[in-house]
Amino acid sequence: MRTLVTGATGFVGQAVLRRLAADEGQIARAFVRAGSAGRCEADEVVEGDLADPSSFAAAVDGVDCVIHAGARVETTGAWDDFEAVNVGATQALIEAAEAAGVGHFVHVSSLSVYDVPGDNAAVDEDSPLESDAGDRGFYARSKLAADRVAQEAIERGAPVTIVRPGLIFGPGRKVPLARRAVTAGPFRLVLASRDYLMPMAFVDNVADGLVLASRCPEAIGRIYTLVDEHIRQADYARMFRQASGASWTPVFVPPAIIRSAISVVESAAKVAGKKPPVTRHQVDRTLRSARFDGSRARSELNWQPRVPMFEALRRSFATVESAGDAR
Ligand SMILES: NC(=O)c1ccc[n+]([C@@H]2O[C@H](COP(=O)([O-])OP(=O)(O)OC[C@H]3O[C@@H](n4cnc5c(N)ncnc54)[C@H](OP(=O)(O)O)[C@@H]3O)[C@@H](O)[C@H]2O)c1
Repeated sequence: MRTLVTGATGFVGQAVLRRLAADEGQIARAFVRAGSAGRCEADEVVEGDLADPSSFAAAVDGVDCVIHAGARVETTGAWDDFEAVNVGATQALIEAAEAAGVGHFVHVSSLSVYDVPGDNAAVDEDSPLESDAGDRGFYARSKLAADRVAQEAIERGAPVTIVRPGLIFGPGRKVPLARRAVTAGPFRLVLASRDYLMPMAFVDNVADGLVLASRCPEAIGRIYTLVDEHIRQADYARMFRQASGASWTPVFVPPAIIRSAISVVESAAKVAGKKPPVTRHQVDRTLRSARFDGSRARSELNWQPRVPMFEALRRSFATVESAGDAR
């Protein structure tokens, strides 16, 4: 069984390669940028750029399935780059795979594509997608467009599966709290409600889900949400402190204060004729949590988070110091 993995030098792609290497009889082909072959361990390597489809035919030639984990996962940059790498490449790679007769294409999407209509909303694979994408950051906007591309491919009968993982964490990656917290002396100002539910997905468990989906013919045409567990932000902060030995005290900034502050930033940017660094819509989205139902992956793919949450967090927090995160 030969599998093409895009994004093979990335966080998820590397975990998929490790998962494939652990199975007998798997041949992993990595799609990497020119000069990056040494940054991943695979049986075969094809070099190329997702923004340039000219290498796609060679990449998919002779493979049984594709796990498309490559994407521009950045918070800055021009829309054209996000569009080319995340949307255009998904379209062109699916088409190249179809033309080559590849049996199964697994597209790695994101929970950010879902509309979250209110706090504590229940969301599953049949829930509506975000409609207000214009107000989102370029990354989220492009992931939504790429998901739609994959859905259109399913509608025309292409052998595509869409997997939407939660907040992916694991060793070697900045741990989730670090992204929304500001260290202030002995305190950590956390820009989210203490009850915000974090849809956690450990990277090795995500890799399991992607490989399982790629091996399951019944998964063709299906969409799966992958979430190990939801953890309240306050509980996560407590576990983080316990496991990492950090001594700061978390202070959760009330959502109303965050929203007011963003209104001020938006107004100031408007007066200055500039684009605000973050919009109210983006902030609302990060303050409003949802419970993402991952039961379909469990029942149809027989997926279970192999690494339990406590162990997954322990392994991730163990690298906090070495990863250089502020404690
Ligand atoms: N991380 C999360 O919490 C999360 C959550 C949900 C979904 N996802 C999705 O999961 C997938 C993998 O994310 P990740 O966290 O593994 O991201 P990552 O670590 O940033 O990896 C992205 C990969 O894409 C490759 N890539 C980017 N631009 C490329 C280009 N122009 N040509 C060729 N390769 C290119 C990168 O190659 P280089 O190493 O050469 O840059 C890297 O291998 C993405 O689709 C992402 O949207 C992530």
